[in-house]
Amino acid sequence: MVNEKIVVLDLGSPTNQKLTRDIRELGVYSELHPHTLSADDIRTMDPAGIIISGGPYHLHDANQFRPDPDIFGLDIPILGVCYGAQVMADALGGEVKHQGERDYVEKEIQVTGQNPLLKDMWQKMSVCCSVGDVIESIPADYKVDAQTVDGEITAFSHVTRKQYGIQFYLERGETSDGIDILRHFLFDISGCNGDWSVESFIESEIASIRKKVGNRKVLCALSGGVDSSVVAAIIHKAIGDQLTCIFVDHGLLRKNEVAEVMASLADDFHMNIKQIDASDRFLNKLSGVDDPEQKRKIIGNEFIEVFNEEARQLTDVDFLAQGTLYSDVIESGSALGKSVKSHHNVGGLPDDLQFILLEPIRELFKDEVRKVGTALGMPDSIIWRQPFPGPGLGIRVLGEVTRDKLHIVREADAILREEIKNAGLDRSIWQYFAVLPSIRSVGVKDGSRSYDHTIGLRAVHSVDGMTSDWARIDWGVLERISGRIVSEVEHVNRVVYDITPKLPATIEWE
Ligand code: XMP
Repeated sequence: MVNEKIVVLDLGSPTNQKLTRDIRELGVYSELHPHTLSADDIRTMDPAGIIISGGPYHLHDANQFRPDPDIFGLDIPILGVCYGAQVMADALGGEVKHQGERDYVEKEIQVTGQNPLLKDMWQKMSVCCSVGDVIESIPADYKVDAQTVDGEITAFSHVTRKQYGIQFYLERGETSDGIDILRHFLFDISGCNGDWSVESFIESEIASIRKKVGNRKVLCALSGGVDSSVVAAIIHKAIGDQLTCIFVDHGLLRKNEVAEVMASLADDFHMNIKQIDASDRFLNKLSGVDDPEQKRKIIGNEFIEVFNEEARQLTDVDFLAQGTLYSDVIESGSALGKSVKSHHNVGGLPDDLQFILLEPIRELFKDEVRKVGTALGMPDSIIWRQPFPGPGLGIRVLGEVTRDKLHIVREADAILREEIKNAGLDRSIWQYFAVLPSIRSVGVKDGSRSYDHTIGLRAVHSVDGMTSDWARIDWGVLERISGRIVSEVEHVNRVVYDITPKLPATIEWE
C-alpha cells in the first residue's frame, strides 16, 4: 500500500516523466496524470501535494491546457512550475502578459521573501527560467518571493493556503537549488515522510499479489528481457509454484540466451518454466519471405499461436502476468487526454483463454524495474540486457531468414557483445548488435579469393529508441571486433560500421 503520493498534473512539459521520477528518487511515490483530471478525482486520490507542470503553451493559445480551477479550492498543497505557475496566477486573479516566443533562459534571480519553499535561500540563484509570458501581477493576498534583476516576478506564494508558483524549472543541473526546492515542497510543505523505496515497493506488491491471487494460478510469458523476467521473479516470490512461465524459443534469440535465462530463472530461482523449442515452426513459416513487415507479422502471429497452444494445456489458470510499465500507461503527451495506451501484449488471446491481468510493474519506470530485479537478487546479465526486438534475429538477417544466416549473425553478434563488455561500454551504449545484409563482396581469406558475407555493426546512444545517435566507439575496439569476426566467423570477409543517426535511419536495419 502506498501511503502518501504526489500528483503531477501533466500540462505538456517533456520533462514531466523525469520530474515524477525525481520525486520518487526522493522517497515519495508520485504519479503523472493528464491535466484533465478533475478536482473531485484528485480529492478521491487524497494526495499529499499537487505539482502543476510546465508546458509548451501560452495562456492566450487557442488550445492551451488548464487544470480544473477547483483544484485551488482543495485543501492540498500546490506547486505550479513555469507554465503551471502562470496558469495558477491567472486562475486566482493575477495577470499574465504575453511577450514573445516560449523559451528557457538561464537567469539570476534574487529571493526577496522567505517561505517554506525557498527557506535558507537568501542568495542569488541561477535558474532555468521560462520566458515568453510574464506574470505581471500576482493574485490578491499572495506574496512575491523572488524576482529577476530586472524586476520580473519569478516566485510567488500564499503560505497558509500552501500554494506556490515558480517561473523556473526544478530539474537538476539547470536550476542550482532545484532539488532542495522540491525537497521543501515534499517534506516541509506537503508533510511527506519519504518512505517509498524499491524495497518498500517489493514488500507491498508481494502482499498485494498474494491477496489478489489467493490460491489460484498465474501464467507468465517469458521473453528473456528484463521486464518479463522481473515480473516473473516478483510473482514467484509472492506465490512460488502457483506461477507457471512459458518461454517460447522461436530460434531467433541471441547466442546463449535460452541457456542464460533458464540457468538464472529455472535453476537459481527455481521457477516453474515450460521451455518450448518452436524454432522449426518459425523457420518453416519464414521460408521464402523477405519483406520485413511480413516477417514481423509471421513471427508475432506464430508466437501467439504457440503461446496459446501451451496455455490451453494448463488447467485452472486464472491470471496472465504482463510486463506493462508506467511509461506504457502514461504515454508521453498524456496531457492530450490519451492516458492509457492499449497494451500490445494483451491482443491475440482467443475467447476460450480469458485471463485476469496481473501487472506488478505497472507503476514503475524502467530504471526502477532494474532496481527491483537487483533487489530480488537477479543477475546483471538479465537486469542490464539491452533492448531486443520481439522478432529477434529474424529482422537482423535482412531478407529471407535461414538457419545458416542466423548462425552467422548470431556468432558475429556474440563477438560484438563480448568485446563491448570487455571494453567496459556495455552500460553506456544503449543498444548494439550485428546485422547480416543480403550482400556478398570479394576478399581474400586464408590465401584465396573469397566471395562472402558482410556483417554490419550498429551501436547507438538513445534514451527511448525514438531518436538515436551512433556511438563513437574507440577505433581500437572496433578494430578488435572486426578482426575477430572475420577470423572467427565462417563466411564473413568484411565488416562495416553504421554511422547513421535515427533519423533518417532507424535503429534496426529492417
Ligand atoms: P527502430 O528500428 O524502429 O527501433 O528505430 C527502435 C527500437 O525498437 C526496437 N524494435 C522493435 N521491438 N518489435 C519490438 O519488440 C519490433 O518489431 C521492433 N522493431 C524495432 C529496436 O530494437 C529499437 O530498440
